[in-house]
Amino acid sequence: MHKFTKFKKPVSRPFSPLIHGLSPRFVLKSANQITAVLRVSCKQRSRVPSAKIKPQMTYDVVIIGSGPGGYSAAVRAGQYGLKTALIEKQTRLGGTCLLVGCIPTKTLLHTADVWDHFKTPGSLGISCTNPQLNYPQVLDKKNKIVNKHSKGIDFLMRKNKVDVIKGTAKLLGGGKIEVTGVQGAQTIEAKNIILASGSEARMIPGLQPDADLILTNIELLETTAVPPRLGIIGAGAVGVEFASIFHRFGSKVTVLEMLPRLVPVEDEEISKELEKHFKKIGIRCETGAKAENIRRNQSTVSVTVTLANGNKEEMEFDKLLIAVGRKPNTDSVGLENTRAALDRGFVKVDGNQQTAEPGLYAIGDVVLGTPQLAHVATAEGMIAVAHIAGKPAKPINRNRIPGATYTDPGIGSVGLTEAQARAQGYQVKVGKFPFVGNSKATILDKHEGFVKVVADEKFGEILGVHIIGPEGFELIAEAVAAMEAEATVDTMINTIHAHPTIYEAVGEAFNGVYGQSINI
Ligand code: NAI
Repeated sequence: MHKFTKFKKPVSRPFSPLIHGLSPRFVLKSANQITAVLRVSCKQRSRVPSAKIKPQMTYDVVIIGSGPGGYSAAVRAGQYGLKTALIEKQTRLGGTCLLVGCIPTKTLLHTADVWDHFKTPGSLGISCTNPQLNYPQVLDKKNKIVNKHSKGIDFLMRKNKVDVIKGTAKLLGGGKIEVTGVQGAQTIEAKNIILASGSEARMIPGLQPDADLILTNIELLETTAVPPRLGIIGAGAVGVEFASIFHRFGSKVTVLEMLPRLVPVEDEEISKELEKHFKKIGIRCETGAKAENIRRNQSTVSVTVTLANGNKEEMEFDKLLIAVGRKPNTDSVGLENTRAALDRGFVKVDGNQQTAEPGLYAIGDVVLGTPQLAHVATAEGMIAVAHIAGKPAKPINRNRIPGATYTDPGIGSVGLTEAQARAQGYQVKVGKFPFVGNSKATILDKHEGFVKVVADEKFGEILGVHIIGPEGFELIAEAVAAMEAEATVDTMINTIHAHPTIYEAVGEAFNGVYGQSINI
């Protein structure tokens, strides 16, 4: 039996679709016509207008949140021919990743990479007189990219016949959702709902961010000038990426991390290498540090820091970024009206992303037990929609999720760290190859870092791969594919790597498991 039939809702109200911004003469009678009007209206306006909810219509799937999890799930649902709606409370589609996360930060990181070359062009034999960084133009470029991609999602929604409903969604239970938008509150019905409401920056208790001094990623991305002194609390992906950006733009950056190392979720050697490089280029890194008594002054922020050695130091910054993790947006989405179970604010799901409420799925940053990463949200969305459509889907395997931290040097990782593999009782063999032995890295003048393969001695199983170095976040792709295909270390040794490439270093590290790297 098709699973949709289980959640059929009674038809209760007359069908009266309206499109925001269009006159009542455009009132239509079918979802196809709605889509047609959306197409017409989108030629007139730069954004997809919110489809006025069709009260009598029961959607096959309604998705709450248009981040990479939500919008990708909407596209896939459209591809499967499901009647789909996407609800978003922001004016633009794209969620944290596109609007204030992955895409704007990677745009700035790319500019920082290019700027780095201009600072020392002589090493490349290029003479360049008095290069200038025009920061307002840097921001303008970032904003253009974000807008372009947001419009791209508008297009994808139209292409896949997804109704976009602008407003704030609240679950009412039993497949009903209340959406409050500029035109008031309306209720829609869905056979299946996918909650993809994402997360927001956590704050240190008692502290409120502002637009000027104590910032989250959102405000720091909008700040109109490079801060001379930037303090960063938290050395997870957010903290170290912003450190890498603003150090290269000229800020004096201090990173304060309470745990004993930077990027604590990574393999310990990766953390050490990043800290070594950060310190070498002049980023102050204080690990094992306790930041207390954060005070706003007239135009600066003061922090009392207890350093790892027990000494107290007063630090003063022009801006302070709080990057201490993200909390799931599950407080006000109406989960209390459902049977979905929560754990510390995260939603519990099964291998198909189903919650305990029939027909309610959760994906992305709200989900318990998977990392808060854009690509995880997307993968979880694919699983949820496949399950809704009765198609085969493979549950997420936590050990096959790539981690990618876009610092310089870049970090890419997948699977178990060496410490985790040992703790799980494997007979661990490690192969390690430094980029100093890689000719393309020499050409790029990027010799920092290494590739580390963690393998099981018994069968040559690849347990994890950890990279820090040039394009480490790109190089990890090979290892992820190898692990997904259940390739062994031997398979990877027999895989021919093109020369000269930086990914040769990955092949060399696999050879290193048997002590047979060539170029070192
Ligand atoms: P996080 O949880 O990854 O790191 C937060 C860090 O702050 C931890 O190392 C923690 O020990 C430290 N911390 C917490 N309280 C502190 C305090 N009072 N004083 C000093 N240090 C403190 O969180 P982050 O970096 O904010 O990222 C949030 C999420 O977004 C993560 O899941 C991350 O993976 C994801 N993300 C991923 C990116 C990527 O894949 N490139 C980029 C940005 C974020």
